[in-house]
Amino acid sequence: MVTPFPVKKAIITGGSSGLGYAVAAMLLKNGSTVVNVSRTGSDLGCEHLPTDLTDNASIAAMVETVLARHRDCNLLVSCAGLMHWAAVGSNPPAQVDNDLAVNLTGMIKVVDGIMPVIKNNRGDVVIVGSTSSFSASAGSSLYCAAKHGVLGYIKSLQTEFADDDVRILGVHPGGFKSQFHIKAKSNLKQDVLMDPHELAAMILSFIALPRNMQVSEIIINRKNPAAG
Ligand SMILES: NC(=O)c1ccc[n+]([C@@H]2O[C@H](COP(=O)([O-])OP(=O)(O)OC[C@H]3O[C@@H](n4cnc5c(N)ncnc54)[C@H](OP(=O)(O)O)[C@@H]3O)[C@@H](O)[C@H]2O)c1
Repeated sequence: MVTPFPVKKAIITGGSSGLGYAVAAMLLKNGSTVVNVSRTGSDLGCEHLPTDLTDNASIAAMVETVLARHRDCNLLVSCAGLMHWAAVGSNPPAQVDNDLAVNLTGMIKVVDGIMPVIKNNRGDVVIVGSTSSFSASAGSSLYCAAKHGVLGYIKSLQTEFADDDVRILGVHPGGFKSQFHIKAKSNLKQDVLMDPHELAAMILSFIALPRNMQVSEIIINRKNPAAG
């Protein structure tokens, strides 16, 4: 007998592009229902709750909809994120607010709002950080600060829900192919980067593990990232 994939319904922030899109596509293929939380929709045919993570009212409306219509959700994937290259001294306050909101504070507001549903359904939370959760590079101070905060938040969740049947998985990838580096105008060559579909398959393989097993942290990078 084939065991059904354990995700009934997933809420994915950033499901319109890149890694969030790849996770959404794979979940749909596995028979799960997917709700995409982002500003734009996707061609996947899943429900889209238009949400801007920099806007409290937009997040609150999305959480209200989830609590009203998606109380059967048992996976939350926080994938939305962005980066700008800028030297310290050239980040206007609005840029600081925007980048911290999308990468950190918006994520916290989403998790805080939806966590009661996940806890009630004995589900899982996946939060995408970055190798920048552990290290820093010149020119990406807002991103590094936010992702270090993401790591602290993941560890807080893992501590707070240690005695509950909820698993919290922190995923910290290095460079992979998506719109991320294109929008950030990075000089990384896309063809050397990891494939988001491989990362999505890896993440969901951990979610599919029996409930008495949990992977808490994944740090994954391409072999020899210094090469290009
Ligand atoms: N690509 C990499 O090399 C890399 C490396 C390490 C970590 N990461 C992390 O991986 C995650 C996914 O990134 P990706 O590479 O897949 O990037 P991507 O292709 O650019 O996708 C980013 C997603 O974030 C959403 N988003 C951006 N601003 C938003 C806002 N204001 N409100 C709501 N959603 C917003 C976008 O949706 P809309 O534009 O439709 O709103 C999009 O779905 C991010 O957390 C990123 O930090 C990426």
